[in-house]
Amino acid sequence: MRIDVVSIFPSYFDGLTLSLLGKARDSGILDLDVHDLRDWTGDRHRTVDDTPYGGGAGMVMKPEPWGLALDALAGSPHAGARERPTIIFPSPAGEVFRQSTARELATRDHLIFGCGRYEGIDERVFEEAAELGEVRLISLGDYVLNGGEVAVMAMVEAIGRLIPGVVGNPESLVEESHEDGLLEYPSYTKPAVWRDRAVPPILLSGNHGAIATWRREQQLERTRLRRPDLLAGDA
Ligand code: ADE
Repeated sequence: MRIDVVSIFPSYFDGLTLSLLGKARDSGILDLDVHDLRDWTGDRHRTVDDTPYGGGAGMVMKPEPWGLALDALAGSPHAGARERPTIIFPSPAGEVFRQSTARELATRDHLIFGCGRYEGIDERVFEEAAELGEVRLISLGDYVLNGGEVAVMAMVEAIGRLIPGVVGNPESLVEESHEDGLLEYPSYTKPAVWRDRAVPPILLSGNHGAIATWRREQQLERTRLRRPDLLAGDA
């Protein structure tokens, strides 16, 4: 998979060289490039923002650098060969990012993430991007961040670990929170007693059927307590 990220703070993404995603990059499973939006400005100050038409607080990201960046990274819409990219703009006004979104996006050949800052990006950029690929506005959750970078870090990690070969043992992807619509069961390791706290005896019983039943009950109980919306099908 190819992933391009455009940001005015490319060093935010230095962390993606670490751990599993770093290994996936080194081995070529994940071809990830981070670009500085200012490289597509033409003025001495490398300006990326301006005041909003109609007035209001804050600054809006100018369309020109974004247009050039997307043209360069998505290629000509008539270039043919490659699948059209999916162009993702993190935004608190977008659809909510879920495990199902990560699964869907992990099947794509080419993702482009455009990180907005300030009060957002000139709306015409989204229209223009739709000429080049599928545009998705995606929110990490119902809160506001200072820009898209942290949201993109989270999305790239959630998507990247689902690409075959990135997580060494694919079974560890199956039994985790959200994969079956429930929260994960609790985990324990040695010692069996720590600071007078014992591991639930069932886990030491060797009875795999009983352990599976207990884990399922734990999943349901946690989900009922912490995330009843998941059980009601609201999420
Ligand atoms: N940018 C600012 N807030 C955001 C959020 N909640 N999700 C995605 N991008 C954002």
